Amino acid sequence: MQHVSLGGLNVSRIGLGAMGMSAFYSGASTDDAESIRAIHRALDLGVTHLDTAEIYGPFINEELVGQALRGRRDQVVLATKFGMYSHAGGGPYVLDSSPANIRTAVEGSLKRLGTDYIDLYYQHRVDPDTPIEETVGALAELVAEGKVRHIGLSEAGGETIRRAHAVHPVAALQTEYSLWTRDLEAELLPLLRELGIGLVPYSPLGHGFLTGTFRSTDDIADDDWRKTNPRFTGENLQLNLRIVDEVQAIATEVDATTAQIALAWLLAQGDDIAPIPGTKRAARVEENTAADGIELSTGQLDRLNNLTPPVGERHDESGMAAIER
Ligand SMILES: NC(=O)c1ccc[n+]([C@@H]2O[C@H](COP(=O)([O-])OP(=O)(O)OC[C@H]3O[C@@H](n4cnc5c(N)ncnc54)[C@H](OP(=O)(O)O)[C@@H]3O)[C@@H](O)[C@H]2O)c1
Repeated sequence: MQHVSLGGLNVSRIGLGAMGMSAFYSGASTDDAESIRAIHRALDLGVTHLDTAEIYGPFINEELVGQALRGRRDQVVLATKFGMYSHAGGGPYVLDSSPANIRTAVEGSLKRLGTDYIDLYYQHRVDPDTPIEETVGALAELVAEGKVRHIGLSEAGGETIRRAHAVHPVAALQTEYSLWTRDLEAELLPLLRELGIGLVPYSPLGHGFLTGTFRSTDDIADDDWRKTNPRFTGENLQLNLRIVDEVQAIATEVDATTAQIALAWLLAQGDDIAPIPGTKRAARVEENTAADGIELSTGQLDRLNNLTPPVGERHDESGMAAIER
């Protein structure tokens, strides 16, 4: 497994996102033993970058990750996130990045993860009610205390990133980036490179769509978050299948899977990019991790760069409202 640097933090260039093991997608929390096997398989294959968040569950995903890492904590760069749970009474999905909320959040995360330090601690969404300088000031204190090693932002816009980085170095920005979500390439990616901040693409498989497993809205259970995602609904889903078919054609040429092509394309975008594909199954960890060894030709990359554009926003209206761009 090759490694990359995220603003000075060394990680395997393919990581593992743990969210779907406990939240949002159907099947979450139905087989924790397999989820733990998936995490262990990842570590055995050289994956050193594990991603979770306080809000996943909430709390139970961190607990699961903590359980899986018992005795193996020092093998991973452990990333988690705060700011989408207000401990002052607001509860889940209330944005709160105030210093007081961060203080409470970090203690809970450390306890659930069974560790005394977090390698990469992200603000999950920008809090419009707390100046970013105050948030990063509180994070800098946690770094000074040794509870946090590096800080990150998720779905922050350019101006916020600059202001944050001026207070304390930001190691990574986490945002959605994949074959069907590329809007960051115009301005955000050049800014990250100017500032020396790494990029962690979330949902690198398009929430699973780019793997080709969804062919109809009937393939999505009613309790699944994707049921209401604009790219997975009705006619949009049918139109978006053109993208998967184009990726599948290249996968067939190189004897790979569509998931592997989606990841190999991301890896080809730079050595400051470390995607975190999510799966709760050990076999898919093996498949996704093997994308590290796939080299795409210039012609294949050109074709992937010119895929049919997606139909539908990447999040629903309320989700888009919390994203700073
Ligand atoms: N910062 C943020 O706001 C934010 C937002 C979303 C996600 N994230 C992070 O990013 C990580 C990944 O994102 P994601 O889970 O939303 O999307 P993803 O990685 O694009 O796709 C995950 C989905 O694809 C399926 N899958 C994975 N590998 C597959 C394969 N080889 N073949 C077929 N299906 C496959 C998974 O199902 P199975 O589990 O059943 O295999 C799951 O349903 C999350 O775990 C989380 O840590 C962060």
